[in-house]
Amino acid sequence: MPALLTTIIEPFRIKVVEPIRMTTPAQREAILCGAGFNPFLIAASDVVIDLLTDSGTGAMSSEQWAGVMRADESYAGATSFFRFRDALRGITGFEHVLPTHQGRASERILFELVGGEGLIVPSNAHFDTTRANVEHSGAQAIDLRLPEASDPSNPHPFKGNMDIAALEALIASHGRARFPLVMCTVTNNSGGGQPVSLENLRAIRAVCDRHNLPFFIDACRFAENACFIKKREPGQSHRPVREIAREMFDLADGATISAKKDGMVNIGGVLLIRDAALFRRACNLLILTEGYVTYGGLAGRDLEAMAQGFEEVLDEDYLAYRLRSTEYLGERLRAHGIAIVEPPGGHAIYIDARSLCPHIPAAQFPGQAVVCALYRVGGIRACEIGSVMFGGEGRTPPPMELVRLAIPRRVYTQSHIDYVAEAAGEVFRQRHSLRGLRIVEAPPVLRHFSARFEEIEA
Ligand code: F0G
Repeated sequence: MPALLTTIIEPFRIKVVEPIRMTTPAQREAILCGAGFNPFLIAASDVVIDLLTDSGTGAMSSEQWAGVMRADESYAGATSFFRFRDALRGITGFEHVLPTHQGRASERILFELVGGEGLIVPSNAHFDTTRANVEHSGAQAIDLRLPEASDPSNPHPFKGNMDIAALEALIASHGRARFPLVMCTVTNNSGGGQPVSLENLRAIRAVCDRHNLPFFIDACRFAENACFIKKREPGQSHRPVREIAREMFDLADGATISAKKDGMVNIGGVLLIRDAALFRRACNLLILTEGYVTYGGLAGRDLEAMAQGFEEVLDEDYLAYRLRSTEYLGERLRAHGIAIVEPPGGHAIYIDARSLCPHIPAAQFPGQAVVCALYRVGGIRACEIGSVMFGGEGRTPPPMELVRLAIPRRVYTQSHIDYVAEAAGEVFRQRHSLRGLRIVEAPPVLRHFSARFEEIEA
């Protein structure tokens, strides 16, 4: 038997390249200060490796670019719309498919229709735009995480699962009438990129059936979630990922999708709705604010790119490489002594900043301190997911202080990943000298995008 090769290789070749501008530590120091210690305010050309997000930052394939050229830009009934709709129908089984410009546009339409004062929308964990849209409608967004999910070191294979007992208790205590629907985010982005099991999705469905409640999935990373189910859930290893993904969608009454993740495009979103009456109302809102129902605020070329991207993401060689490459980064960080959210997520590795900087209290944003250090050391741009993103007056403090290293799809090579791991190791060596920050300027909502900070003197 020949030995099984373990080197991780990208299952694609590179046809077009884009230069990275290298910077010196002195340049980065000046850039970071100028940006108020907030990487969202740094110009992308000043970043060496950009791990701010995996959203809209992926590389398209030659087939996607071919679709861009082939696209039909007709206002109504464009060929590209039908190609997009049929691809989504084929993968998800939903008959009613609406294009939107991105995930939050789907969320805004959905919650304008079903949200409102006095209502409650439970989820395993709402992403920040979902929460903001639920709250904007006047409703309350509630996260029902597993207790295991608040412990970064707990290796539970499906830490994205919803706490089913808590869901039952919530419905029992407030009464069914206060719930317009139940939501579940796959994978759970805010909690470490952790997957939700098929068993958990089936259990949510059963609760919804008992109370006659619709069940919607935030399916941004549905393919990564389905691949985790195949890898980790007993009895699922023999099934094609496409079939598992289909079962996930079959359990739901609707889905909001940001196609900027597993849709493998730079812009685009989807709203899937089973109920014909609700779908018609969504069409009316879409026309009012996004565009006609066969383009939804996008160009025909964007629809073509989505149609192809949603197919490509289900390629099992791609998914195996994707999850393995992310896991590899997690292993390297762990080897340096850095605590991460275990087990490694699908689209990102989350550094446990509280454990890395125990000397920095939550009020001084340990995650932001680590984000600044990664930029100083390696020009790496990461994102805080902790008290900056979720804290603030009148809000429940987040359970964890995390730094997300989100990996764009098909953009960076394994040697880029090695560079990130080396830089993170250097941050670990400097951890005792990292400093906390205070906010000097911030908007009332979604403050992580534009807040400015200053470093607190040691
Ligand atoms: N839901 C989840 C789980 C997300 O991760 C995002 C975006 C959205 C909804 C909203 O989609 O950006 O297309 O409007 N997440 C990005 C991120 C921004 O960096 O994780 P959008």
